[in-house]
Amino acid sequence: MDLGLTGKKALIFGASTGLGRAIAIELAMEGAQVTLCSRSEDKLASLAESLSELGCSANYLIVDLSSKEDREKLVANLKSAQDGYDILINNGGGPPPSTTSETTTEQWISSFNTMLLSTFEITQAVLPHMRKNQWGRIINVVSNGVIQPIPNLSISNTLRASVIGWAKTLSNEEAANGITVNSILPGRIDTDRLKVLDANKAARTGASVESVTQASLKTIPAGRYGKPDEFAAAAVFLASDRAGYITGSMMRVDGGLIKSV
Ligand SMILES: NC(=O)c1ccc[n+]([C@@H]2O[C@H](COP(=O)([O-])OP(=O)(O)OC[C@H]3O[C@@H](n4cnc5c(N)ncnc54)[C@H](OP(=O)(O)O)[C@@H]3O)[C@@H](O)[C@H]2O)c1
Repeated sequence: MDLGLTGKKALIFGASTGLGRAIAIELAMEGAQVTLCSRSEDKLASLAESLSELGCSANYLIVDLSSKEDREKLVANLKSAQDGYDILINNGGGPPPSTTSETTTEQWISSFNTMLLSTFEITQAVLPHMRKNQWGRIINVVSNGVIQPIPNLSISNTLRASVIGWAKTLSNEEAANGITVNSILPGRIDTDRLKVLDANKAARTGASVESVTQASLKTIPAGRYGKPDEFAAAAVFLASDRAGYITGSMMRVDGGLIKSV
């Protein structure tokens, strides 16, 4: 299947590790020109170099989404650039685990700025170019917690559900401009984030990490954690020309983890 991604310009956040990295690699292998974003220059430079050696087009931007200064600079640069992006992958670090009652005001505000405000501002900055070309793809990496809230991930459950409301509203506003807006819900995909969460649960409950992992695997009908490239395949399809009539949707990549229909 020709995905029609050759030469498309993609801006990918959280591209240094895990899901964002896997999406960047798959998009680049499909011929997209990828711009990799995160805070870690060493990891981004190394990935861009590896992709270039494979004949792909890759560059990178250092951005800390929790920094107001970094966000303002990035948004100003995106708005003033001659050229723009065709594909935006809204992705980044997960918030710290906490129960709802113990989450502090400072944590709510800083997570809102890092996870939501950054997404809103960056998306607004890339839209004019997409509208001009009557083609665009906006893909949000959220979580299975937006459908089935995850214990002790209060901030994630709350703020990512807001992304869904925002994305659906935006998808209706932009559909006639050839711009699609979709969200992907990872279940439990084998990345650094998952290791941190399993270790956190082990420390909280006094169980071993191994027993936490085994208990978690029992809740997944597929019986295993997903691989980052399995997740990335869904993102690449939603980014493709072939997915032009899919918008405002939530796609689960979870091995059946979410229990509801
Ligand atoms: N893996 C799963 O099964 C799963 C399930 C549900 C939800 N999710 C969510 O999906 C997202 C991606 O997951 P993942 O597993 O790929 O996580 P990950 O391995 O922890 O990767 C997070 C990425 O975000 C970047 N990042 C973190 N803080 C940032 C900041 N302040 N500014 C800019 N970039 C930042 C990190 O790069 P730098 O450190 O280089 O900045 C890294 O590239 C996370 O939000 C996670 O909570 C994942």
